[in-house]
Amino acid sequence: MIGRSPVCPVQRYGSGLDGLVVGDTTISLIDGLSSRLLYRGYSVEDLVEHVTFEEVSHLVLFGELPDRSALEEWKGELIRWREPPQAAFDALHRVPFAAHPLAKYRTTLTVAACHVGDLDGAPSGIERRTPARILSWTAALAAAAIRHAEREAPLSPDPRLGFAGNFLYQALGRRPEADEERAFDASLIVQAEHGLHAAALAALIVSSTGADLGSAVLAGMGALSGVRHGAANQLAFEMLGKLEDADHARRWAREALARGHRFPGFGHRVYKCPDPRVRALEPWARRLLAAHGMDERWHTYLALREEVEAALGPRGIHANVDSITGLLYHPLGLPPGAFPIPFCLAIQTGWMAHCLEYAPDGPMISPGVVYVG
Ligand code: ACO
Repeated sequence: MIGRSPVCPVQRYGSGLDGLVVGDTTISLIDGLSSRLLYRGYSVEDLVEHVTFEEVSHLVLFGELPDRSALEEWKGELIRWREPPQAAFDALHRVPFAAHPLAKYRTTLTVAACHVGDLDGAPSGIERRTPARILSWTAALAAAAIRHAEREAPLSPDPRLGFAGNFLYQALGRRPEADEERAFDASLIVQAEHGLHAAALAALIVSSTGADLGSAVLAGMGALSGVRHGAANQLAFEMLGKLEDADHARRWAREALARGHRFPGFGHRVYKCPDPRVRALEPWARRLLAAHGMDERWHTYLALREEVEAALGPRGIHANVDSITGLLYHPLGLPPGAFPIPFCLAIQTGWMAHCLEYAPDGPMISPGVVYVG
């Protein structure tokens, strides 16, 4: 006789792994009810005011804001890795100009990673060298991917510029103004870490198998490219681009709300209150837009945000970081298709920090699934 076995006893789980935790962390606190985001105990708003992305990446990765000599050493390490292997740039000759910049960036990092063995040498200092190499290689490759869409050749780095300034220089082909560099740096700071979101978990799962940090970052990049995740900043900006002015934004938002539209750049799995990253970046976006004669776009954004939040705020849906970053990147001259790139450049810092924190004794992450057939 052949028969079906009974289904397993009920197991508890939330949809999308909601409510499950992988372990403890000292890297960040995301307080989704009180609108706070802390990296190693420091609020992102304070960090934006007082330090640079180089200092924040050191804080997130290694647990401390660097003193002067540690900062010089870390900056030196970051500068040392600004020139990825030529083979990675050559790979761009074999992909279509119109491919998404995020896909090109991921592809060239894969090629660059094949050359790591040639460069590693002595194992000492690998904890710092690998994250520095990933951060700086990816910045150069991302800039090259953005230029490739314009059929422009990659540019050599400028060692006098910091991480943010050099990325903008390599991507745009012009040295940014001080305010532009500071605003872009602020966007990197507030996006440098965000707990175990979907992309960070993807990276951590790969790393928990014993795979290298580069493979973990590549997994994170794949997860981040989705429209519900890191690609939302492009969609949020494109939505705004279709609105002529504040009045149009209000009219359109009311009509879209009535038909149950899902607004890119609004809502968040954790924040059920205003996203602190929006608060930190709005003054910068407003200033940059004004400096580039784009005030109208600011007022359009504000009208849309107010209208959507008035209707959905009581349900815990507010503007998230993806609604504001495009308003910084557009006046700088970055094309909308490239908007997910700075997010990825910044947030991989947190992915690596989680991998390094988990790695020493964390077991391989391998959840089950409940058979209900
Ligand atoms: N616009 C309108 N309604 C929304 C939105 C939105 N942006 N987000 C959620 N809702 C509504 C849903 O329609 C749903 O309503 P229902 O209960 O009547 O069906 C309810 O809120 C719950 O939606 P879920 O998708 O289940 O909620 P979750 O907490 O998983 O949503 C998510 C998080 C995926 C980010 C969602 O808010 C969304 O799709 N936002 C738009 C895309 C976006 O901006 N993503 C970037 C997030 S931040 C980041 O990754 C950096």
